[in-house]
Amino acid sequence: MFSRLKIFSGKANEDLARTVARFAGIPLGDIDLFKFSNNESFVKINENVRGSDTFIIQPTCHPVNDNLMELLIIIDALKRASAKRINCVIPYYGYARTDKKDQPRVPITAKLVADLITVAGADRVITVDLHAEQIQGFFNIPVDHLFTTPLFARYFKSNLDNENLVVVSPDSGGANRARTLATRLKCGFAIGDKRRTGNNDKAEILNIVGDVKGKTAILFDDIIDTGGSLVKISYALKDFGAERIFAACVHGVLSGSAIEKIENSPIETLFITDSVFLNEEKRNCSKITIISIAELLAIAIKKIHIDESISILFR
Ligand code: R5P
Repeated sequence: MFSRLKIFSGKANEDLARTVARFAGIPLGDIDLFKFSNNESFVKINENVRGSDTFIIQPTCHPVNDNLMELLIIIDALKRASAKRINCVIPYYGYARTDKKDQPRVPITAKLVADLITVAGADRVITVDLHAEQIQGFFNIPVDHLFTTPLFARYFKSNLDNENLVVVSPDSGGANRARTLATRLKCGFAIGDKRRTGNNDKAEILNIVGDVKGKTAILFDDIIDTGGSLVKISYALKDFGAERIFAACVHGVLSGSAIEKIENSPIETLFITDSVFLNEEKRNCSKITIISIAELLAIAIKKIHIDESISILFR
């Protein structure tokens, strides 16, 4: 007999959580989430979770610190209410990009956040396209790392003419991810020589390695944040003779003036998932197409609940 499956949502991306619950065929768990006037977060779980297999859906996207803190508080509430297992579904793992000590006296926030989640009482993390695979090792609890490459590949196979495609990674860090998509689409692969010249959107593209001339390029990256990297490489691709330019990014953080940059760029369409909450402006941007990960998450949740392998999701 399985323990009861329950899915709760924090405030970070309630639209996604509702869709996941619908695909999983169960209603979202009853939880109150609010802030006191002093800005402290509070949660109250309004149903019995004793002995339940609980899943919290909470990407740690904007407002990152509030969403992270709320996740920790929900974990604590579930633990104190005797949930049997606490699974954190964090489709977008914020703070991931500070994952190594590459300058003196800097933190490794990806590890710090992993520690916070673990110490709060999580038993498992389910996440999607981590910025770097090694982040799994920052946790001493199981991490189920899902990938969206099969979703993007399926979409492009049925919606783009595959004849003349080339998948382009903006930098060497994303090369494996982009190569996997290129292999699935049976097309060429190129890579940008990106150099960061400062924080946020300070990046320059020195070169493009690979044949893009006359081709339809699909830029593929894990995150679009300020849009600096993607937009700069889209101009470089034009200079190197690419005919059409599309972009696909798993996590549409889209901070600052990212939307404006995309709208004014040579990128025809930006494909993103709904791992991060997307406001009206982002959802209504004519250049953005959203590919939902809700069904992928629902299937993963159901399989994890019954201790079934999730490898089929990578095919
Ligand atoms: C960097 O290594 C990441 O993969 C992304 O390319 C980067 O974080 C995107 O940030 P932005 O949109 O601000 O250039």
